[in-house]
Amino acid sequence: MDTSTAKKRVLLIDDEARVRTSLKMVLEPSYDIFQAADAQEGLDMFRKEGPDLVLLDVILPGTDGLAVLQTLRLESKMTPVIMLTGTKSVKTAVDAMKLGAADYLSKPFDVEELRIVVDRALNSFALEREVKQLRAQVVQRYAFHNLIGKSQGMQEIYAKIEQVSDSRTTVLITGESGTGKELVAKALHYNSSRRERPFIALNCAALPETLIESELFGHEKGSFTDATARRVGQFELAHTGTLFLDEIGDLSPMTQAKLLRVLQEREFTRIGGVQSIKVDVRIVAATNKNLDELVRKGQFREDLYYRINVIALYLPPLRERGEDVPLLAKHFLAKRVEEEKRAHIEFGKDALELLTRYPWPGNVREMENIIEQAFIWSQSAPQITPEHLPTILKNDSRSSSLRDDTLAGRMSLEKAVMEFEREIILDALKRTSYVQTHAANLLGISRRMLKYRMDTLGIGRPENAPSQEPEPIVQE
Ligand SMILES: Nc1ncnc2c1ncn2[C@@H]1O[C@H](COP(=O)(O)OP(=O)(O)OP(=O)(O)O)[C@@H](O)[C@H]1O
Ligand SMILES: [Mg+2]
Repeated sequence: MDTSTAKKRVLLIDDEARVRTSLKMVLEPSYDIFQAADAQEGLDMFRKEGPDLVLLDVILPGTDGLAVLQTLRLESKMTPVIMLTGTKSVKTAVDAMKLGAADYLSKPFDVEELRIVVDRALNSFALEREVKQLRAQVVQRYAFHNLIGKSQGMQEIYAKIEQVSDSRTTVLITGESGTGKELVAKALHYNSSRRERPFIALNCAALPETLIESELFGHEKGSFTDATARRVGQFELAHTGTLFLDEIGDLSPMTQAKLLRVLQEREFTRIGGVQSIKVDVRIVAATNKNLDELVRKGQFREDLYYRINVIALYLPPLRERGEDVPLLAKHFLAKRVEEEKRAHIEFGKDALELLTRYPWPGNVREMENIIEQAFIWSQSAPQITPEHLPTILKNDSRSSSLRDDTLAGRMSLEKAVMEFEREIILDALKRTSYVQTHAANLLGISRRMLKYRMDTLGIGRPENAPSQEPEPIVQE
């Protein structure tokens, strides 16, 4: 933001010289003034001088001031435009505000009012600009190459991606299914100097063992029965780029051995070929299996494991980064709204809480599906509510989730007990229409104790609850 104390620049667009002169007289001491007598001159000067504010006459020779307003708004949303209306026509003023004018002044104008309106428009736009800038920074901090998330876990991933993306070091990405391993692999590639070069992804689990070698290394014509033509493998295709080996835990022992050789020597031969081919390929591998364990069981070569596990990136499951849940949900919803050009829709508080409580066994991929469903269920509702999330609602058992959270070490016993108490008290209050004496009776505690627990747990009175307690029944 411009924090200098230089004078702000104001552009006056009005065909009447008399009006311009008087405006200038009032504003000159505080602002640098530029003047234009018609629309074209005004637009030229706007582009050339980049003023901080424009005062624009509604009636200009040959053009409609409102059309000029629209053009100005299109060119720069961040420059406030104040309309000067000759008549007392409220209609024009309203139209102007609808088109994005910051304010309007009717001629002849009051000197003091002119100063105030100009000042106010400049200040509020400066504030808006600041908010926008802050928001952009937040987006940058919470998102990284299409990755969304502000949790500690994700911040660490962003930092690691930055650190390692530019080297050729092999990276191993681990994490449960649907945590975003492929997205991270892409972020590594597109954040590296290889970004203009190919990113080739190969799913090792999707191919039968007999095909995977030819897929990786290619083959010469006639090297086996089906090899009717020479085929270039993924390693060659990925030359100077990145080769993403997904589900690497599913490679057969023989392919593991061949892969190890390429990683060691950076060269290989096509199946049935003699010539050895040198490649410059950055390898990123991913798996949702526990490779350590596979190595222990003898199902994954230890030497290959060390070759690929140079830099390890572990993606924590979504249930361990609860603060990312609302962000991701909003992101996926906004994406669908934009794709379908549907009217704005947002999450209700209950729906967000429900989403945050859910353990997300399928991680981000599951979330994407659930939001897609909610988007469809909600049709033209202004808000997503729990009933638009039937799959999750079905699984939501508050008390059992408190129990699970505690036993899984995600929540302390103390917190769980407090949560439980809060729910029961809230329930009792609801059942007794917030009459505390009755709620206390229901719970078998004194009213004073109830009040004390409510204060401790931060339970307040809802706005629409009766404000009058009936005469307390003294029973303590
Ligand atoms: N942090 C994130 N921000 C935005 N979208 C994400 C994020 N993580 C995952 N996604 C989205 O979730 C879906 C699943 O991600 P991805 O395919 O990368 O997961 P994965 O870990 O490779 O899963 P699997 O092990 O099942 O192959 C994708 O559509 C991806 O775009
Ligand atoms: Mg994947």
